[in-house]
Amino acid sequence: MTISLTDHTVAVTGGAKGIGLAIARSFLEAGAKVIAIDLDAEALAEFHATAPDRIETIAVNVADYAVLSSALAGHEIDHLVCAAAVGSGKMGFPFWNLEPTDWTRVLDISLMGTVNTVHACVPALLAGETKRKSVLLLASVAGQIGSQTDPPYSAAKAATINFAQLAAKDFAPYGIRVNALSPGMVKTSLNRAVFESSKESVTMSYEAWAEEKIKRVSPLGRWQEAEEFGAMAVFLASEFGKNVTGQTLNIDGGQVMHS
Ligand SMILES: NC(=O)c1ccc[n+]([C@@H]2O[C@H](COP(=O)([O-])OP(=O)(O)OC[C@H]3O[C@@H](n4cnc5c(N)ncnc54)[C@H](O)[C@@H]3O)[C@@H](O)[C@H]2O)c1
Repeated sequence: MTISLTDHTVAVTGGAKGIGLAIARSFLEAGAKVIAIDLDAEALAEFHATAPDRIETIAVNVADYAVLSSALAGHEIDHLVCAAAVGSGKMGFPFWNLEPTDWTRVLDISLMGTVNTVHACVPALLAGETKRKSVLLLASVAGQIGSQTDPPYSAAKAATINFAQLAAKDFAPYGIRVNALSPGMVKTSLNRAVFESSKESVTMSYEAWAEEKIKRVSPLGRWQEAEEFGAMAVFLASEFGKNVTGQTLNIDGGQVMHS
């Protein structure tokens, strides 16, 4: 099976690091042009240097709709991937370990950042040949299981899944597909921040914590790798994914199983 997206453009939020960067690289490998959107200007510049003729970067906070929408205005976009997100930096178990005010920043970035980006891309998505277009929102297993680890993060991800479903219905008449991709556990800065907010960080290393946790929560017992999300994202954006919409696909070693 060969996938070529040579005349396609993908916009990826959170595209400077972690899973978003891996997804952006996979689209590049498939021949697409990439618009990487991220807060981290330095990491964006590093990525840009790897293929300057096919990568455009936009350093912006996805929580700032006015700046984001004006930065994206006039761009041609075939595929949108929303991966930018943050956690609270605090550990739940129970949720009242956090203050209600801890929810604001997480929801502003991890939920509203995604809503803002999709809104900002509506004109580009509805322009031209719509049937080949797609949207992919990074959710999480946390949004499907009432995870206690980081309550506002879980709630943001549950809402992201719901938004993907309703957007899939709204975009369906245009042939535009919308899906959500749910990682279980991937060793990125976001995941390390979960460890750093845990009480175990005082007594054990990240590696030891990670080893114990993945065996406990995942039937396959191994960490997912960012590149796996790149492969799935490219598949979903391609002709092979033309009948997949409104779905939440878990790449999580079987942590969450749907009937
Ligand atoms: N790593 C995991 O185990 C895991 C598990 C489940 C879901 N996810 C989801 O996958 C996606 C990617 O996560 P990751 O693990 O690669 O995280 P990461 O921290 O490695 O990367 C996130 C990227 O988003 C950017 N970002 C953060 N806030 C931003 C803002 N306000 N505006 C613009 N950019 C911003 C960061 O600079 C960074 O480049 C997220 O949506 C996350 O919730 C990750």
